[in-house]
Amino acid sequence: MDFQQLIHSRESIRNFNPHKPIGKETLERILEAGRIAPSAANRQPWRFYLISTEKNLAKIRSCYGRSWFMDAPHVLVVAGKYSLSWMRTSDGYNSLETDLAIAMTHLVLAAEAEGVGTCWIAAFNADELKKSGLFEKDEHIFAMTPLGYPNEGFKKNGLKNRKLLREVVVYL
Ligand SMILES: Cc1cc2nc3c(=O)[nH]c(=O)nc-3n(C[C@H](O)[C@H](O)[C@H](O)COP(=O)(O)O)c2cc1C
Repeated sequence: MDFQQLIHSRESIRNFNPHKPIGKETLERILEAGRIAPSAANRQPWRFYLISTEKNLAKIRSCYGRSWFMDAPHVLVVAGKYSLSWMRTSDGYNSLETDLAIAMTHLVLAAEAEGVGTCWIAAFNADELKKSGLFEKDEHIFAMTPLGYPNEGFKKNGLKNRKLLREVVVYL
């Protein structure tokens, strides 16, 4: 799949096959895409939590109560520490969330290249997630995505509801 095909075929998946876990090598290729992502001053302030055991999945499922989220055989949580990321001294801007968004994008696109479905989730209950005890206290939990194979016939296959190029591009 070339890059244009990849970015057009990726879409949020909210319909997973619960009976088809992802193989270890596939998961590692996805995680590798997060590992090599760029970050400000190359600080790599992230941690990628791959949650696959029933015991730990049960601990985090209550933080986002959609039935399709319950079906995914894995959940990937992207977290990081403000103390590790680069800060601009002139105004205190901290790049943590920018760095984590880039890593998340790498992960999601790598998953697409493997035929693995994702859905970037930000609307989770952060307090519930913290209560799970799976993450470090000073970690900012930035985003999560279920990882799993989409059920047949669910993908829209590139049909995207987006603004037109002329609405978003300014040629000067
Ligand atoms: C930062 C961010 C947060 C999102 N949070 C959620 C979420 O909490 N729940 C959800 O179902 N989708 C969430 N999405 C998915 C978006 O709704 C989706 O990407 C958008 O509608 C475009 O559709 P597509 O991903 O299928 O191209 C999020 C996406 C982004 C980038």
